[in-house]
Amino acid sequence: MTTKVKELIEEVKKFSCDNLEDLEVFRLRFFSKKNGKLTELFKDFKNVPKEEKKDFGIVLNNLKNAVSDQIDFLKSKINSTDSSDIKLDLSLPGYAENKGSRHPISMVKNEITEIFSRLGFTISEGPEIEDDHHVFSALNFPEEHPARDMQDTFFVEKNPDILLRTHTSSVQVRVMDNSQPPIRTISPGRVFRNEAISARAHCIFHQIEGLYIDENVSFADLKQTLMYFAKEMFGKDTKIRLRPSYFPFTEPSAEVDISCSLCGGKGCNVCKYTGWLEILGCGMVDPNVLESNNIDSVKYTGFAFGMGIERIAMLKYGIKDLRMFFENDLRFLKQFV
Ligand code: PHE
Repeated sequence: MTTKVKELIEEVKKFSCDNLEDLEVFRLRFFSKKNGKLTELFKDFKNVPKEEKKDFGIVLNNLKNAVSDQIDFLKSKINSTDSSDIKLDLSLPGYAENKGSRHPISMVKNEITEIFSRLGFTISEGPEIEDDHHVFSALNFPEEHPARDMQDTFFVEKNPDILLRTHTSSVQVRVMDNSQPPIRTISPGRVFRNEAISARAHCIFHQIEGLYIDENVSFADLKQTLMYFAKEMFGKDTKIRLRPSYFPFTEPSAEVDISCSLCGGKGCNVCKYTGWLEILGCGMVDPNVLESNNIDSVKYTGFAFGMGIERIAMLKYGIKDLRMFFENDLRFLKQFV
């Protein structure tokens, strides 16, 4: 009996197959409850003479383990050949990586800051949560003055007022606080106004404001600077025109139009058939602003300007709805790669 089982063990070790069906047949040959070899041998166990029982038990267990090991071994071999069997065409081109791109607002911001840095402007940044002093008082907005209503403010706290900055002129107040002329800086950043969201307005948008203070800075310098900017940004043939306007912190103040970049000034539906597009506000820094920021208004003069980045981007790329910038629709964003 024992020799017969030992032979079976050798047979089991030599067994091989390459599919799960044959392996199942092999398993049943030994483990089947009805007529499996092992089932039957275990049944025979009681007929084995007492003195042989121990040895027989050992070989029987060896057989059982050998069958189980062989099944495990063959099963893992079949499974691994299964997956490596998948037909691979290594000559196929790879899948394109889905790369991100810069947001058009960042791209336009970078372009604007680059143009002004060529004129020697440095970049300054400041906090988005501000106090009344930096956003209004230091910029010649008198207490209770209706001009404060020009910019619908989001207040964080009242008395003392803490608010979300409505323009980045607040950064320029900080620059004046910390340095003396010559000052030549631009401040890009996010600003907040309590406005209804529409195709032309949003409660969060981006601005770039510029400030230049030195001896003998004149309105002609302002105009020349803005003309340079307009031609660099919108093309060599761009013309600018200045219309009188009002801001509390500049005197005189103006609004600047460029000749319509889409129709070249002939008139189209973007410029509403006027041939002109408004792009920014500007003016000579009011002496009150210089004085309240400890700058000698007899010795120094300066100019300031401010523009919305969204507006510049809309004009440059012919985008009709400002909300597109905030929706993060990849079909829109990918056009600016
Ligand atoms: N701060 C103004 C605004 O946000 C823009 C501006 C800046 C106008 C500088 C004139 C001079 O509307």
